[in-house]
Amino acid sequence: MVFLSNIISDFMGIGRGFGKTILFGEHFVVYGLEGIPCALGQKTICNVEKISSEGGFELIDNRPASEEYKIKKKEEYTNLINAILTYLNVKDKLKITFSGDLVPASGVGASAAAAASLSEAISDEYNLNLNKEQINESAFIGESAGSGTPSGIDNTCAVYGGFLVFAKNLEGGKNKIENITIQKPIEIVLINSGKAALTKEVVDDVRKLKEEKPEEIGAVFEEYKKLVEEGKKALRDYNLEKIAELMEQNQELLRKINVSSDLLESIITLAKEAGAKAAKLTGTGRGGSIIALTPGKELQESVAKKIKEKGYEVTLTTIG
Ligand code: MEV
Repeated sequence: MVFLSNIISDFMGIGRGFGKTILFGEHFVVYGLEGIPCALGQKTICNVEKISSEGGFELIDNRPASEEYKIKKKEEYTNLINAILTYLNVKDKLKITFSGDLVPASGVGASAAAAASLSEAISDEYNLNLNKEQINESAFIGESAGSGTPSGIDNTCAVYGGFLVFAKNLEGGKNKIENITIQKPIEIVLINSGKAALTKEVVDDVRKLKEEKPEEIGAVFEEYKKLVEEGKKALRDYNLEKIAELMEQNQELLRKINVSSDLLESIITLAKEAGAKAAKLTGTGRGGSIIALTPGKELQESVAKKIKEKGYEVTLTTIG
C-alpha cells in the first residue's frame, strides 16, 4: 500500500486543508479584533496533475457538497483557483481534484480548506517545499480573490489546524496565531442551515453598516472586545457555563451587526430546545452553519438526533 501511494504521489501533487468553526469573533476579526476558531477533524484533499503546458485548469469537485452550494460558489472557486495558480506561477494546465470528508456548507471554511489544499498540492507537485507560513500566504491570496476582504482566520485554521486565538495584523505584519490548550475537548454539534451565503456580500454589508452608524456599531465592537477576553479566561478555566453564556452574548452582537437571519434564529431555538447549552451562528452568517455547545457524548448525540429529525444535516465533533 505504501508502495502504491508512493507511485501515485510521484504522478500527482497532494495537499490538505482543515475545515473550521468559530467559537467567538466572526466579522469582528476582519477589523483586527481577536477571534477564537477551531479547526475541524474533517478536511478537503486536493490532487493536482499536469495535463498540458498550455495553462488553465480542469476542476473535478468530488467533495460531498450540495448542488446548490456548487452552483452558488462556482465563480468564487474559479477566482480562488486562478489567483493561486498566478501567485505560485503555475504555467501548465492542471487537472485539479477536490475530495475529502469536509462537507462544504457555508460557515465551515470550505473555500479556505480548498485554497490551503490546492496550495500544498501545487507545492508538492512542483517540489516548491513551501512551509506552513508560505502555504498560508498562498491560501490567503486564494481566499481574498474568492471572497473579498477576509481576515485570514479561515485559511489559518485550514493550514495549521488546532484551537487558536487569531488576530489579523491591520498594519500588514504577521497575524497573531496562538494555540489554546483546554483541559479536554468539548463536544459540539454543527448544524448546516442548508442555505449558502456569500462571505464577500455579508462582510461588505457589515462594513457599510459600520460606516452608516459608527457610534452604535462602535459600541457593539467595544462589547465584543470585553467578551473575547472573558472567553479566553472561560476556556482556560474550563468554565462551560461561562462559555455558554458568552456564546449567547456573541450571538446577540451578531444580531446587532445584522448577520443573523430568521432561519438561523429558528435553528438556534431548536438546538436549545433540544438541550444544547448554547448555540450561535458560526462563520459568515445569513445562512451557513450553527455551532451548538453540547458537552458530553450523551448530550451531543441526543441533540444531534433531535435536530436531524427536523431535516437538518449535522456534524458531531469537538473543539479543543
Ligand atoms: C468567515 O468564516 C469569517 C468572517 O469573519 C470573514 C473573515 O474573517 O474573513 C465572516
